[in-house]
Amino acid sequence: MSFSAEGHHGLPRLLAGLEPDGSAISLAAHTRVHGPLPQVASHQLIEEVERSGLRGRGGADFPTARKLRAVAGRRRVGAVIVNGSETEPASAKDRLLLSRLPHLVLDGAVLAAGAVGARQVIVKVGEDAVGAITALQGAVSARDEAVSIDVVTAPGGYVAGEESAVVHYLNGGPELPTFVPPRPFERGYRGRPTLIQNPETLAQLALVARFGSRWYRELGTVADPGSALVTITGAVMAPGVYELAFGTAMSDLLAAAGGPSEPLQALLVGGYFGTWMEASRATSLRLAREDLRSVGCTLGSGVLIALGESSCGLHESARVIAYLAAQSAGQCGPCVYGLRAIADAVGALADGVAHPRERDRVLRWTSEVRGRGACHHPDGAVRFVESALEVFEDDIDAHRHGRCQAMPAGLPLAGAAVAGGRLR
Ligand SMILES: Cc1cc2nc3c(=O)[nH]c(=O)nc-3n(C[C@H](O)[C@H](O)[C@H](O)COP(=O)(O)O)c2cc1C
Ligand code: SF4
Repeated sequence: MSFSAEGHHGLPRLLAGLEPDGSAISLAAHTRVHGPLPQVASHQLIEEVERSGLRGRGGADFPTARKLRAVAGRRRVGAVIVNGSETEPASAKDRLLLSRLPHLVLDGAVLAAGAVGARQVIVKVGEDAVGAITALQGAVSARDEAVSIDVVTAPGGYVAGEESAVVHYLNGGPELPTFVPPRPFERGYRGRPTLIQNPETLAQLALVARFGSRWYRELGTVADPGSALVTITGAVMAPGVYELAFGTAMSDLLAAAGGPSEPLQALLVGGYFGTWMEASRATSLRLAREDLRSVGCTLGSGVLIALGESSCGLHESARVIAYLAAQSAGQCGPCVYGLRAIADAVGALADGVAHPRERDRVLRWTSEVRGRGACHHPDGAVRFVESALEVFEDDIDAHRHGRCQAMPAGLPLAGAAVAGGRLR
């Protein structure tokens, strides 16, 4: 097969076909928008995904073709798992896809199953994602597939979306990360090689399979091709999920969300595992890995939180790190005790009651905690804290002298607060 079918040029791509009334797209309407599910040989699909440069959108940014190949090369492949956990509180993109455009994600999962030789697809979603569950169940019953598709719900929690936690839960254990290796691609669901991907990754794959890598690369940069779903929230006029091309200026991202609702002091890029940046510095960057990496940051699962000048970055950060510490799965000492101590210290800095050397002590702890957990939870949490202590350093002194007049900005956010915003 040649990937010559005509794809839509420009944006939206993934979000083409969103029903204006907020309902889930029907299979017939989905087929009208994107065309039928293509028949692609396994090696052809993997090669085309490789050429497209598609990388995982669940936060780890891993090349998708390499993961497909790692599973396809094994015997007795178990399942393709769609990791729809979306445990990042500020993210709403996966729920948007699963609740409004479920067929695009299922297309990607079915195509990936064909490519790696799996006979089963499991979509795992949080049990509170009611819209996604209903839409998925409807979508599964409308399709006639050679692979079985099951929708599994789970209680959730921040670390419940980590891939080994997902596999552990589907194997009948608690929703907690396990010590890896073996990684899921080696031994995952029911002990068999398993492919686990984020819903957006699979939705992108479904488009690459239809329209090819050349079409995919019409948008974005050479290093970061294609488009991405970004949840933009905080001090913007129209919080919501937006599809934007890689390479778009951060200032244009904010403009897409209606622009700032007040002068901004900082942006949190990448969600709660992300990095605070002064607004003036952040808006000069593009939505591109090379730009973000140059300032020590990643896009994570595609979250951008704008902090207005009326809010206090230190107080917001204290609440987020307290939340992250409470989300530790309680299995690894440095994560459990280290994050709790860091959270208490950042809380004391925010309340203006910390020792003058407390900031240095926190920075020593963050370096001691990094890399010391079974999963990357502590790594993401300390990255967040280090950026907070850098960007809001001047506020620490102001707080010690009782000069903080800021209004709460509401972090940590409940996911629903974002999902209720405008979804485009
Ligand atoms: C603490 C933690 C939480 C995570 N939560 C999610 C999640 O909710 N959804 C998700 O797709 N990936 C999550 N991930 C990343 C997954 O482990 C995994 O990399 C991802 O699902 C793979 O899909 P991708 O390659 O398509 O991104 C999390 C990772 C960590 C360390
Ligand atoms: S590092 Fe933390 S979240 Fe990850 S498994 Fe260990 S205790 Fe759980």
